[in-house]
Amino acid sequence: MTSERFAEVDHWIARHLLPPDPVLDEVLKANAAAGLAAIDVSRVIGSLLALLCGLVRAHRVLEIGTLGGYSAIHMARALPADGRLVTIEANPRTAEVARANFARADLVKRIDLRVGKALDVLPGLVDEGHAFDLAFIDADKENNAAYADWAATLVRPGGLVVIDNVVREGRITDDLSTDPQILGTRSLYAAMRMDARFEATAFQIVGTKGWDGLMLARRR
Ligand code: SAH
Ligand code: DHB
Ligand code: MG
Repeated sequence: MTSERFAEVDHWIARHLLPPDPVLDEVLKANAAAGLAAIDVSRVIGSLLALLCGLVRAHRVLEIGTLGGYSAIHMARALPADGRLVTIEANPRTAEVARANFARADLVKRIDLRVGKALDVLPGLVDEGHAFDLAFIDADKENNAAYADWAATLVRPGGLVVIDNVVREGRITDDLSTDPQILGTRSLYAAMRMDARFEATAFQIVGTKGWDGLMLARRR
């Protein structure tokens, strides 16, 4: 089976199950025009994130790694009118692209975009007294274990933590890897396994973004 087939099936599922969405299409166009890497979640995974927000009855969502806001828009739309999504982006230029996309999606009031390195921003969210129903971790993989630790503090009992890119075309199993991103995510697995605050699993995904995976961890 080829990766082209995986991508074709993703497109088929989107066409046959999900409504056409001109705003999401415009967002991806704006991202490409601004030169952002096309490393957002796929449409089907975006719809999964939205569905998970509904399952945990999310009012408050935390995202680490905004890029152009494609995943944030999926999740923010899944919130009630008084819901709020806080999303953290380190790159100010990228954050400006996201800000314009949030306006395009008419979500400016529902999305609180914080520009800065997540490890600098997260302590402030604790001080502000936030309690999130769901956290989506999708930034620099080197800090994945640290982000999961912050999520344990910031996500309420029964809430959900979702971590992207935990398979990386199978490279996650490479005991000899020296890639800091792989090492960071391997540390995440080790930390999650030992962490009594979470019930976690991970699974592989194929589609338009190749072969990767998600970790889901329920805050006990
Ligand atoms: N969640 C997005 C994709 C995020 S890509 C989507 O699916 O649409 C990863 C993003 O994390 C990039 O925009 C990158 O600039 C950002 N990033 C990298 N290191 C970061 C850090 N230390 N803190 C916050 N954001 C970071
Ligand atoms: C890549 C993909 C991602 O989903 C991400 O968050 C970061 C990088 C990539 O394919 O390089
Ligand atoms: Mg990702």
